[in-house]
Amino acid sequence: MPDQAQRLRQLVQEWERRRKKRTIAITSGKGGVGKTNIAANLALALHEQGYAVTLLDADLGLANLDVVLGITPPYTLGQVVQRECSLIDIVHCAYGVKVVAGGSGLEELATLPDSELLYLFHDAAQIDSDFFLIDTGAGISPKVTSVALAAQEVVVVTTPEPTALTDAYALIKVLTRKNANLTLHLVVNRASNKKEAQQVTSNFCRVAKDFLSVTVNPLGYIPEDRLLRSAVHRQQPLLLSFPSAPAAEQLRVIAASLAGTVCPSVYGSGLRGFLGRLRSLFR
Ligand SMILES: Nc1ncnc2c1ncn2[C@@H]1O[C@H](COP(=O)(O)OP(=O)(O)O)[C@@H](O)[C@H]1O
Ligand SMILES: [Mg+2]
Repeated sequence: MPDQAQRLRQLVQEWERRRKKRTIAITSGKGGVGKTNIAANLALALHEQGYAVTLLDADLGLANLDVVLGITPPYTLGQVVQRECSLIDIVHCAYGVKVVAGGSGLEELATLPDSELLYLFHDAAQIDSDFFLIDTGAGISPKVTSVALAAQEVVVVTTPEPTALTDAYALIKVLTRKNANLTLHLVVNRASNKKEAQQVTSNFCRVAKDFLSVTVNPLGYIPEDRLLRSAVHRQQPLLLSFPSAPAAEQLRVIAASLAGTVCPSVYGSGLRGFLGRLRSLFR
């Protein structure tokens, strides 16, 4: 069995080779704000725009990305942590996107030790793609923040509700305390209109700058859209069931905006930052 230091070296070598790949966690302070739908549809929008995308469901123990995508993968992370197969074996191709489904209702996933998380990331990093999107759980528990901090970039999702905004603020405070160099993006979901979204975005970014000295990159907004709820009921991603829905159009704008952002940690001191993030997983 290779020791952890050896595994770490392999991981870094792998990362070097694929350093242009962007690893992006989609997370939130408050639950139920739209992370899974955003992750699924953002993956499809990036694929539409010509990028190779891998989507990992890391809402460990409460995974439901497969439900939003309307797929029934034969294997999930549940089998991986039970050592029945490796992560690479469970990659399921859906609508042109490589999906790694999470297990639901499995305590061993919800209580996965950090070292095991590292192994999952190592294996997931081997999947060839331009974007590696990770759908996470909500909140500031170490389990959720470890997953978010292992990524180079984090998309924080909030709604305009004060409770969601307060929790989003608390989350970025916790994340940036652990890694001040994290690239943070903001998506305001379920906005009544563009004006509300712009106001919420500029207030949030200003407060983050003034009180936490943190720069948050506004990625865009998604309107409240009953078609998104219909898509969830149909168990088919919005971009496929209602491609010209207002929310679908904004998701494409967000995908283009994300693809157009150059993440300094990818092209600059990426390796050092990545090592730092890995070490935080061992703590
Ligand atoms: N833009 C939106 N318009 C209308 N309903 C939405 C929108 N975004 C999310 N929802 C509703 O919120 C529910 C929860 O979304 P989900 O993506 O599962 O959130 P999370 O992953 O953050 O828990 C969806 O099933 C849908 O009913
Ligand atoms: Mg979710």
